[in-house]
Amino acid sequence: MSEENKFEPKIVAFLCNWCTYAGADLAGTGRKQYQANVRVIKLPCTGGIDPLFLIKAFERGADGILVSGCHPGDCHYNSGNYHARRRWNVFRPLLEFCGINPERIQFSWVSAAEGGKWVETINGVIDSIRALGPFEGYQKINTMGPMVSSESANQ
Ligand code: FES
Repeated sequence: MSEENKFEPKIVAFLCNWCTYAGADLAGTGRKQYQANVRVIKLPCTGGIDPLFLIKAFERGADGILVSGCHPGDCHYNSGNYHARRRWNVFRPLLEFCGINPERIQFSWVSAAEGGKWVETINGVIDSIRALGPFEGYQKINTMGPMVSSESANQ
């Protein structure tokens, strides 16, 4: 593959404010380096992440997604991370049904004190998505324009 065709994945990371975002911040203040393919979205808690946020990220061009928050037992809203984990268990088969490789979404627990773990985690996600290649599932839909059935168009 030529240098100009080299695929660089776009990763969207949904991070809980209290743990993983602070861990990523710690990595930055500690001058730890990681690949620049990630765009971070900070949220109060992983428990508030609607699965539609993830689908929307793919629709807008993400090749992979990381959801990361507090370790089990450390959620600042008591059980938000447990809700997020349960939601993922339900959402994963739906992704497979829709033809989206579930490996494109990864979950992790990274605390505010784990700047080094953040670097390892995000570099691992970027490398694994780079190996999977670009996500093209939405390209066909986006180029076709909005889908309107003949039934709803007649109303
Ligand atoms: Fe971090 Fe809930 S506050 S996962």
